[in-house]
Amino acid sequence: MIRRNPSSLGLLALALVAAVAAVAQSDDDAAAGARAFGTVARVLQSPRCQNCHPAGDRPLQGETGRPHRMFISRQSVEAGLPCSACHQERNSEAVGVAGGPPGAPHWGLPPAETPMVFQGRSVRALCEQLKDPAATGGKDLAALLEHVTHDPLVRWGWDPGGKRKKPPVSHAAFVAAFRTWVASGGPCP
Ligand code: HEC
Ligand code: HEC
Repeated sequence: MIRRNPSSLGLLALALVAAVAAVAQSDDDAAAGARAFGTVARVLQSPRCQNCHPAGDRPLQGETGRPHRMFISRQSVEAGLPCSACHQERNSEAVGVAGGPPGAPHWGLPPAETPMVFQGRSVRALCEQLKDPAATGGKDLAALLEHVTHDPLVRWGWDPGGKRKKPPVSHAAFVAAFRTWVASGGPCP
């Protein structure tokens, strides 16, 4: 016959309380993570990011996302006109030319196989795309966090040159929201 002593029952009760608390905590984390993704999405949907993450093969320009002038596209790159023919590693203003092409290291479109489309995507679709290894070329959430923290094309968004507007939140707030989203396992709103 098994006899439980009161103290082990007490421990069991404590363990149950802890387990319930942990579930509640992870629900809270998931809700906070999904909310944080809302902030991330506002940046992804801003012209500075969307212009290089178009639904088609042509980059976009300006605040309204009109197609890039001069029929620039993935095909024009294949035909031998690299983006770097015009886009230098710095904004044209930084080299004394007002109103010229913006610039940052490795200026270009994402590869055709993993185009990372931001244009016209809902918040939820953006979230699911970032979590799909087939869409990101196998990058996990930690690698994406690294990318949005340090990549020069991302950082360029907050130093876009000319009269271009910055994304709606600071780079620090964007990275903090991205980190909250990743730490909670990438919940989608
Ligand atoms: C000049 C074009 C350009 C701009 C502007 C740009 N991106 Fe990208 N983005 C790329 C390219 C190219 C890639 C593919 C990976 C690479 O080559 O770095 C990419 C990939 C990504 C990825 C996927 C991660 C990866 O490593 O593939 C994320 C997330 C991303 N960009 C976010 C942003 C955000 C946020 C902004 C705006 C603040 C932005 N991008 C602005 C060109 C751009
Ligand atoms: C023949 C020169 C030339 C080539 C080649 C070129 N661009 Fe541009 N691009 C420009 C100029 C000039 C501007 C500035 C236009 C403006 O802001 O009014 C510009 C602006 C842009 C912008 C707008 C930035 C913003 O947010 O408003 C993006 C994005 C862009 N180019 C991407 C690319 C990509 C990607 C490639 C290669 C596939 C490329 N460009 C090739 C000349 C060029």
